[in-house]
Amino acid sequence: MKPGRFALAMTLPLSLVLAAGSAVRADEAAIPGVSDAYQARTDYQLKCQGCHRPDGSGDDHSNPPMRGIVARFLSVPGGREFIGRVPGVATVDLPDDRLANLVNWTIYRFDPAHVPQGFRPYTAEEIGRLRQNPLRLERAAIRARLVAGFAKTLGDQSP
Ligand code: HEC
Repeated sequence: MKPGRFALAMTLPLSLVLAAGSAVRADEAAIPGVSDAYQARTDYQLKCQGCHRPDGSGDDHSNPPMRGIVARFLSVPGGREFIGRVPGVATVDLPDDRLANLVNWTIYRFDPAHVPQGFRPYTAEEIGRLRQNPLRLERAAIRARLVAGFAKTLGDQSP
């Protein structure tokens, strides 16, 4: 392959990713705690979707789905803190304000139906505090306990 073609082949996928994220969707225009939905979506594409998938569906062995579930953590004691402390969130190389923007976007983008009434969006300050204590091996047990708590949340019997 000629060098020019090689360069084109390398840049094309990236430009497609960027083009796909170039417009803010109407339903993302006014998400609480999200000052920049375009930034959030781009950060999700670059930092999160490799594991959680572009549509938040995760996979069925190691990376959990976000779609239809992630906001449920906000209704069980400790869940709010858990979200700020999972390694994929806590250790990502983004500043606190961009990470708060991204986490709030993630919650509303993938699971608006389960956002509890009166939910206060994460602030940069809260995210900055939580991420100082990333969860380590204990996270699987903590996650299992929180998920078990979903079943007990008011008005919802499903696991
Ligand atoms: C290397 C794969 C990977 C990456 C990258 C990743 N995550 Fe995760 N994420 C996981 C896994 C695995 C869990 C389950 C808890 C654990 O074991 O860390 C998780 C859990 C979560 C949770 C808690 C909900 C749940 O079901 O456990 C949230 C919220 C989350 N991730 C958001 C993000 C965001 C936002 C990003 C990008 C900044 C991100 N993750 C990047 C793998 C990843």
